[in-house]
Amino acid sequence: MEKLWAGRFKEKTEKVVEKFTSSLSFDVRLWKYDIEGSVAHVKMLGKQKIIPKKDVELILLGLEKIREEIQAGRFTFLDNLEDVHMNIEHALINKIGSVGGKLHTARSRNDQVALDLRLFLRDEVTDILKLIKNFQKAIVSAAEKHVDTVMPGFTHLQKAQPVLLAHHLLAYFEMLDRDRERFEDCFKRINVLPLGSAALAGTTLPIDRRYVARLLKFPEISENSMDAVSDRDFVIEFVSVSSILMVHLSRFSEEIIIWNNDQFGFIELPDAFTTGSSIMPQKKNPDVLELIRGKTGRVFGHLMAILTVMKGLPLAYNRDLQEDKEPVFDTVDTVKSSLQVLTEMMPKVRFNKKAMAKSAEEGFLTATDLAEYLVRKGMPFREAHRVTGEVVKHCIDNKKAMSALSLKEFRQFSKLIGKDIAYYITVKTSIEGKKSFGGTSKKMVLARIKQIRGKE
Ligand code: ARG
Repeated sequence: MEKLWAGRFKEKTEKVVEKFTSSLSFDVRLWKYDIEGSVAHVKMLGKQKIIPKKDVELILLGLEKIREEIQAGRFTFLDNLEDVHMNIEHALINKIGSVGGKLHTARSRNDQVALDLRLFLRDEVTDILKLIKNFQKAIVSAAEKHVDTVMPGFTHLQKAQPVLLAHHLLAYFEMLDRDRERFEDCFKRINVLPLGSAALAGTTLPIDRRYVARLLKFPEISENSMDAVSDRDFVIEFVSVSSILMVHLSRFSEEIIIWNNDQFGFIELPDAFTTGSSIMPQKKNPDVLELIRGKTGRVFGHLMAILTVMKGLPLAYNRDLQEDKEPVFDTVDTVKSSLQVLTEMMPKVRFNKKAMAKSAEEGFLTATDLAEYLVRKGMPFREAHRVTGEVVKHCIDNKKAMSALSLKEFRQFSKLIGKDIAYYITVKTSIEGKKSFGGTSKKMVLARIKQIRGKE
């Protein structure tokens, strides 16, 4: 089969080269956007009288047929035609004859592929934004149910201070909120029309780029043709914000894995979201979460891949840029499936309130509350810290909880301690007292939930 660019060549392309250079196996995914872009482009060519109206009609009909055929699975993509763009153009010419060859007027595959990728990412980022919102909703719903559920908060994975489960969950809401903002921001820079840059320099033909932008709903058009066909910073940005999102999903997954461990026993995962072991019949493993944690690695890898592809490229288009697509596609798939599975799992996770509360009672989690009690009585914090440390040491030596100490015992350490200390070192008081803005008190947590609900 004659290649669309065969004119200046004496020899046929080697099979091994065809196979090596072909991107069809992956860029076929862009077919819908390729047609959408071509439709807008050819309408513009007609409006500008660069090609006759009747040719435009024929090309539009041809493209429509191809769209239907691909949708119905009746279209045969040919690998030796290099990529999705060549396949569609070739099929068009086959269908409507040489007039189909007018579609590529004032266009190059360089601006075409940049357009397709931007159209694709626009849709995908829109989807991802919805998925993030859904996961956030699932988190807020769980938080709402647990504004009275007490658990230990950790630092260094050692019990630190009591917190509300709702507060802990909402920490992830906040991370996801920033992820959402980052995707929204990155969308702005994706949403720029590159078409009309042609190969690299623009075109001598009287095109109307603003008209194409209007048809394809781009609020902006690229300012510089060489930049438009050769940079992929919007891809780097997309994979980068995706990587940050994956960090958050991975941390969340790790958290749930730990809570699910029976040393913790804080939660029970739904059977439907766990898997068994092929050898150990008793096992119920959190594989879904482990996979999210694991897949995070591949998204980071994609970020490194695209950064590396870009770093040495002179202007303008270089074929290296074909390597942008697989990282993008896999990032999209990984991010979307991870968000989906977490969102569906969330309402089915059972939180073991008793185990959490019990764990918060053990291990002197309210020691800081004793120190702050002493501070309120006028003791400098450093001294209060030391005194409290001595109280804890005394408790450990005597195998006692702080709440089991008598007032007399307490007063051996400081005369500032009064009867009311019993009240101040309970887990409940400790949490209630964290009324500083952004703290874990129920008051603060409820206020944040209300604010979130108000914005929805
Ligand atoms: N398949 C190519 C890509 O993905 C399309 C652009 C090809 N352009 C070229 N001048 N060979 O980047």
